[in-house]
Amino acid sequence: MKPAVLGVGGLHPMFVKNIEEPFTLDIIADESEFDRVAEKAAEYRAIAATGESRVPASLLARLPNVGLISVFGVGYDGVDVPAARARGVAVTHTPNVLNDDVADLAIGLMLAASRKMVASDRFVRSGKWPEGRFPLGTKLSGRRLGILGLGRIGHAIAHRAEAFGMAISYAQRRRDEASPYDYYPSALELARAVDVLVAILPGGESTRGIINGPVLEALGPDGLFVNVARGSVVDEPALIEALGSGKLGAAGLDVFVDEPNVPPALFGMENVVLTPHIGSATSQTRQAMADLAFGNLQAHFAGTPLITPVPA
Ligand code: NAP
Ligand code: 8YV
Repeated sequence: MKPAVLGVGGLHPMFVKNIEEPFTLDIIADESEFDRVAEKAAEYRAIAATGESRVPASLLARLPNVGLISVFGVGYDGVDVPAARARGVAVTHTPNVLNDDVADLAIGLMLAASRKMVASDRFVRSGKWPEGRFPLGTKLSGRRLGILGLGRIGHAIAHRAEAFGMAISYAQRRRDEASPYDYYPSALELARAVDVLVAILPGGESTRGIINGPVLEALGPDGLFVNVARGSVVDEPALIEALGSGKLGAAGLDVFVDEPNVPPALFGMENVVLTPHIGSATSQTRQAMADLAFGNLQAHFAGTPLITPVPA
């Protein structure tokens, strides 16, 4: 008999295809649908999740024989990792294979917002060009870039930004002694020193609202904020207020607090570029993520070392 895996959240079809061959797979959106599969609770040996799935301690407590949570995504802020560890449940994720795509999107959002690319596309399509000139944008090359979270993806963003002649600095909890970039110990100090701030740090309680009103105001009326991390890292009402009042110049946002619901206040803002959490959304990278997340499931069932466990 095939071992049973419980999917939690909107699993990507490539991940589902991999899993369904050797395993049986039932999928619930979240714990509120658990009753639908409750009679099989003791059969599930692993959980397949996405970077946005919620896997709380209460769900784990209902699954006595689960030994692994394999997350399709590098971020795993929806998984209660201490609760999993306390039950002897391992957690894996998909680092590195998505660095290039997320960094490409971060640069794309910087360019799109600075050069008003999306608004200018709307201008041409709506036939307004013959009526007059499109407003000037802001130069990106040579500006000062601050990276909040100089990790795997943060480094890939910095590498690309160097080619744009940007002066790079960063903030995180620990100074990276190997980094040539200027270090600031807080988001606020970083924001005061740069023109463009990119958030690319993990979500979760420890980073909730770390980009708040004062940080956005420190970026200023000519400043640009790009979020490719998690919606939770920014105080969203403060962001909307700063953009609407002109205290912050512009934003490029791939992630939101209550996805897929985006605050309607953002829809009418010409100084904002919005994307629907597509940082890693290329067919090549999603396949690589599916294969790595599946590889972790296979390793678990084979009793071999997990490929990419989350850090201790
Ligand atoms: P990573 O290599 O672990 O880097 C995370 C960086 O954030 C580290 O350098 C870390 O440095 C810093 N950090 C952690 N906690 C912090 C805090 N409280 N304050 C300031 N800095 C903090 O992770 P990654 O692979 O680059 O991925 C980063 C995040 O990007 C993921 O967790 C995920 O949420 C997000 N992501 C989004 C998309 C998308 O589609 N938009 C795609 C992939 C990933 P310290 O430990 O020194 O603080
Ligand atoms: C994915 C992500 O879109 O890796 C992450 O943390 O946010 C993205 O790569 C997501 O996790 C897949 O559901």
